[in-house]
Amino acid sequence: MVNIAILGFGTVGSGVAEVIEENRQSITHNAAEEINVKYILDIRDFPDSPFADRIIHDFSVIEKDPDVKIVVETIGGAKIAYEYTRRALMAGKSVVTSNKELVATRGHELIEIAKQGNLNYLFEASVGGGIPIIRPITQCLTANELDEIYGILNGTTNYILTRMITDGAPFEEILRDAQRLGYAEADPTADVGGFDAARKICILADLCFGKSVDPEKIRIEGISGVTLEDVEYARRLGCKIKLLGRAYRLPGGRITAYVAPHLIHKQSLLSNVDGVMNGIVVHGNALGECMFYGAGAGKRPTASAVVADVIDAVKHMKARKYLGWDESEPGYLVDAEDVVTRWYIRTGSGLAAIGAAFGDLRLISFPGEYPGAGPGEYAFVTPAMTGRELEKLTAGMEIRSRFRVL
Ligand code: HSE
Repeated sequence: MVNIAILGFGTVGSGVAEVIEENRQSITHNAAEEINVKYILDIRDFPDSPFADRIIHDFSVIEKDPDVKIVVETIGGAKIAYEYTRRALMAGKSVVTSNKELVATRGHELIEIAKQGNLNYLFEASVGGGIPIIRPITQCLTANELDEIYGILNGTTNYILTRMITDGAPFEEILRDAQRLGYAEADPTADVGGFDAARKICILADLCFGKSVDPEKIRIEGISGVTLEDVEYARRLGCKIKLLGRAYRLPGGRITAYVAPHLIHKQSLLSNVDGVMNGIVVHGNALGECMFYGAGAGKRPTASAVVADVIDAVKHMKARKYLGWDESEPGYLVDAEDVVTRWYIRTGSGLAAIGAAFGDLRLISFPGEYPGAGPGEYAFVTPAMTGRELEKLTAGMEIRSRFRVL
């Protein structure tokens, strides 16, 4: 029997305990060992929980118990979770986590500590909730040179954008539903502002391209600027608006990474990834394009990935799984404003200003055509150019929305 401890009994932590209990038989078979939840660390008590007898409040009990071989960290954040992860690894325990903030910001360091102790630090649940993506990148696709990865990486914002498209419901109401359903982060600005997706695309870029990408250094745009007019104009172009995290290689071994709303064509792989679902597209030079699709948030889908990592850690007690990346170097990350793309623009400036900046363009919308649109509103798509070039061309214009077109 292998004893484990769960740190944090919130949505994901309680899901992990429940899945281990519920699927005890098949998990024991798959791990070739019984997995026992010996402790659950939380600051709260849960007197009505079937796991009430395992709740403890002092981390050092876990740290000092040699019977605990694996620690599941589902606290979240990069402060106390960092300290406990470090201490657990130093105490000779493998760690499994769903914590994207910690992996994105301190992953390199924690993997190094794990390596020194011949331990595992596994984080399949940190990206895409229940979707297998970390293991495919680090195992199944290793014959490829990977040149691009992009996807819908945040369930909460995808749920909000989908409902804006399907029922035109008010933003606040949809967000409340997402929180009630357990999709949103404790602080939903991490979802809405694109920070959660940024952590995830950085982890994917770390793994795909081999060097650390700091979420603090990439461009991040959330969905708060997306309006119902944008949704309508995108529809006229045969597109949907989706929040994408994207990273790709540029000539000379450099990469770019960013998070932003995009117009994506209805025929593209990701356009039917709706609701809380996530979809991740990887491009490799031997494989071509491959998409991973599934539930990107929520208690049980995330627990599914965490528990699979626990099983993997049990099966690799004395054999490290190779996972990791190098530190970044100057010039490696190129600002997303310096790479070329087409842009969707919604503007309150008139035809003379649009013509002076862009010449002849096909307009998607004219003033007065769409009820609810701001006064004198036009929308169009530009030729391919960098964000900085666009900034210069539109310096004197009133820009209401500006999104990339994939
Ligand atoms: N808040 C996240 C989301 C949870 O909505 O995708 C999963 O990481």
